[in-house]
Amino acid sequence: MHSLIIFASGTGTNAAAIIAWCKENNKAKVSLIVSNKPGAGVLDIARNEHIPFLIIDKHTIHEALLIEQLQSYHPSLIILAGFMWKIPASITGTFAGKIINIHPALLPAYGGKGMYGHHVHEAVITAGEKESGITIHYVNEAYDEGNIILQAHCAVQNADTSDTLATRIHKLEHYYYPRVIEFLLAQLD
Ligand code: GRF
Repeated sequence: MHSLIIFASGTGTNAAAIIAWCKENNKAKVSLIVSNKPGAGVLDIARNEHIPFLIIDKHTIHEALLIEQLQSYHPSLIILAGFMWKIPASITGTFAGKIINIHPALLPAYGGKGMYGHHVHEAVITAGEKESGITIHYVNEAYDEGNIILQAHCAVQNADTSDTLATRIHKLEHYYYPRVIEFLLAQLD
């Protein structure tokens, strides 16, 4: 059974999709959820699913202790699912090749600092793009620049608002993120 750690700051719909996949497939379990937001929806998911969680604070974080704590769960993968901080280099270094992220656009376009959530979709619509999508990639010390594992595309329609585009993108995310995780775990078996 593979151990997965999820880092998330928001509602956690991707975390929920991954937990559901774990339950269906019995190949992995989410052993820890880490968040930087005490009120994040993803923590309600953790509580309901009886998954241990950790709330970290940028100003008081002790990186070496956090690393020790993460290592104690022996994660096969650390999965960022809407986590709003840049992961410290000590963590990307320790877990090199094991940290993945999902970005709601086709990187390298619409990535980097400030490009998250609705900012991404608004920028895509304002630029008149006909297509957007998702990027699942490895995380290294440079935000949004790790090697790409998978991209999936969808149309941007003329009438799209950032909300309607976000809904279409979320569907892609919920479909592909668990499948990419399954693929990566199979390579470790
Ligand atoms: C997703 O759109 C993901 O691409 C981005 O943050 C969002 C998280 O959404 N990195 P949710 O909390 O999983 O619903």
